[in-house]
Amino acid sequence: MAEIVLQNIAHSYNPQATDKTYALNPFNMTWVDGARYAILGPSGCGKSTMLNIMSGIVTPSEGKLLFNGSDVTAVSTSERNIAQVFQFPVIYGTMSVEQNLAFPLVCRKYAKDVIEEKVREVANALDLVPLLKKSASKLTADQKQLISLGRGLVRDDVSAILMDEPLTVIDPDLKFRLRRQLKEINQKYQSTLIYVTHDQNEAMTFAENIIVMDEGNIVQVGTPAELFERPQTTFVGYFIGAPAMNFFECECVDAQTVAFGSAKIATQTNLEKVKTKNLKLGIRSEYITLTNSVGGNTLRASVQNVEDMGNNKLLTAIFEGNSIKIKVKREVEVPEDIVFLKFPAEHCCVYQNEKLL
Ligand SMILES: Nc1ncnc2c1ncn2[C@@H]1O[C@H](COP(=O)(O)OP(=O)(O)OP(=O)(O)O)[C@@H](O)[C@H]1O
Ligand SMILES: [Mg+2]
Repeated sequence: MAEIVLQNIAHSYNPQATDKTYALNPFNMTWVDGARYAILGPSGCGKSTMLNIMSGIVTPSEGKLLFNGSDVTAVSTSERNIAQVFQFPVIYGTMSVEQNLAFPLVCRKYAKDVIEEKVREVANALDLVPLLKKSASKLTADQKQLISLGRGLVRDDVSAILMDEPLTVIDPDLKFRLRRQLKEINQKYQSTLIYVTHDQNEAMTFAENIIVMDEGNIVQVGTPAELFERPQTTFVGYFIGAPAMNFFECECVDAQTVAFGSAKIATQTNLEKVKTKNLKLGIRSEYITLTNSVGGNTLRASVQNVEDMGNNKLLTAIFEGNSIKIKVKREVEVPEDIVFLKFPAEHCCVYQNEKLL
């Protein structure tokens, strides 16, 4: 395993073009040895490009890639010791499950008894023992994907295991179990796992750290809680959470207060040096509470809709033409026409030009 550092990496698929567009804009990133990451972002934002640069499938147009401090930018894919699992399983159909798992070790001329032991250990971890003698071509899509993963795990010399939407072909019921297995494997083998997905739930339940990307940029790196509590950009606020974070245009009133329409909302953001232009107030629907009357940080809104979400209710209310989403516990009584909404100052985020202040 290794610490992987991406230093001033950038990539353009058409470097000769005069107005070259970057699939990845210049960035720096350090992947800590043994940690579990998810790369999350909409289609085309550069997730696979980043992964392929690490494995060596793509050579970056700019920047350096370091494994444990040594420059591997020009080192071939096979010499980098990276295991990559793709969206669709790559297996050798003519071989048995056991032979598939052993293949990376056979290629590297490991001793027979070492191979047997390693294959058995990995087959145990992935629940593949009953299938070992079966032909790989006879398996279901998710079993095949487990083999792709297993081939990455049999080698104890891999620097990282990179997975590009590996559970797409897998039955939703099995996804949950597989994600848990991946977590256990990460803990047991201390292997750095980097997992690409565009599904926020998958990212949130799998990773300790999430890299959120948009249009070739890393927009935030953080724990699931950090992304939820303090989205660094409005994009992250929209992209993470269900429903998306509420955002309202607002103006600066004094050092900590903004005006949202006729309502004055105190925040914990220092607004002293802030120009009034392009400001937004952001608050999660989970943090808005219902109160009985007007007071500090409270606004009077009309109820438009209440959706039953099982354990929660999702209320949509209108305040001076703005639609506000509020998530409350099932047992909370929601008035039929008028609600008083409290915006706790500690949960109010202020954004200037879409960036958190
Ligand atoms: N081989 C290629 N040649 C030219 N452009 C490419 C190539 N591969 C990707 N791109 C472009 O680079 C950008 C980033 O693509 P990438 O595949 O990294 O995105 P992604 O986040 O993995 O998307 P998805 O979720 O759809 O897999 C996109 O605009 C894409 O069209
Ligand atoms: Mg991709």
